[in-house]
Amino acid sequence: MKKIGIVALGRYLPAQKLTNADLEKLVDTSDEWIMTRTGIKERRIAASDEKTSDLAIKAAFDALKNSPVKAEDIEAVIVATTTPDSGFPSVACLVQKAIGAKKAFAFDVAAACSGFLYAMTTAKQFIATGMVKNALVVAGDKFTTIVDWKDRNTCVLFGDGAGAAVLSSVTQGGILSDYLIAEGDSAELMGIVPDKVRTPFDQGLEMAKLPYVVMNGQDLFKKAVPGMAEAVRIAAEKAGVNVHDLACVVPHQANDRIIASVAKRAGVDKEKFFINIHKYGNISAASVVVALCEAVEEGRIKKGDKIALVVFGAGLVAAANIIEWSY
Ligand code: UT7
Repeated sequence: MKKIGIVALGRYLPAQKLTNADLEKLVDTSDEWIMTRTGIKERRIAASDEKTSDLAIKAAFDALKNSPVKAEDIEAVIVATTTPDSGFPSVACLVQKAIGAKKAFAFDVAAACSGFLYAMTTAKQFIATGMVKNALVVAGDKFTTIVDWKDRNTCVLFGDGAGAAVLSSVTQGGILSDYLIAEGDSAELMGIVPDKVRTPFDQGLEMAKLPYVVMNGQDLFKKAVPGMAEAVRIAAEKAGVNVHDLACVVPHQANDRIIASVAKRAGVDKEKFFINIHKYGNISAASVVVALCEAVEEGRIKKGDKIALVVFGAGLVAAANIIEWSY
């Protein structure tokens, strides 16, 4: 089997910060509640004229800056997002245009907070079959456009941002295992209302209402912990790696307490989990790749390390990969 891995990473976080203190002025909440219940201190807000594609393009350029693979040699652009600029064109096509990847095909993947690993695993298959040599995988979300800013149950949790990875053949290590799973039976736990797609034509006025995120936080929490711990266990087993030998685990950043419980359940020291939720909150699909990018930059992941990526999101969808770091 061909070895396929991440050869470059990038990220983009909008400049504007929204702190817990700022949120205290918007809804009945407190820094103390948000910090103790979630671990979030602040999050980034994209400018009103900054679309998901703008975030994704900036993250893509950041990844390409340090990439041994140049834009003209990218043959697939896959973007994970559930907040695309519009139904079409896809964000992926806008990224393809911006970076000048003229030989590439491009499409979006919708798997909520698990999107990056779904997109990365899809890209890996195209490379494994020999259909393409190099792929660009981007995850970007602008959740602040779909949050109800009067709902304290959700508005304190999310932020905007994007991350990107270049995938190619590697001589050492690479992605050792993939695990993707869905539980559509629990789809009602998190969604966007009103559901624009199903709004009938004769209720056109309803369309004017902005869609916003609703979720059953407690039930999601109860699903996320065993779901993510199990995903790490299965991915590690598929890779033939003992979880105790993982140098770092990079999880989806939804809640610091979820991460602590996953660490306990998976039997991995929490110190090995990379956490940046305090800075960005939950950036949906972008969370895990932005965290991975920072973990590598901060020297928490080095060449030869075996690491796990693990995610969980609305759908419900979960995923995990074991990677032997290649650079
Ligand atoms: O990204 C993938 C999908 N998302 C997740 O995985 C999220 C999973 N869920 C969670 O992270 C947590 O359930 C939350 C952070 C969303 C909520 O934390 P919780 O500890 O489960 O709180 P809760 O919903 O049980 O609410 C406890 C109390 C309630 O008040 P009462 O009924 O006990 O009086 C809430 O009304 O906290 C209240 N509350 C707040 N208080 C201050 C809820 N939100 C806030 C808030 N500030 N922002």
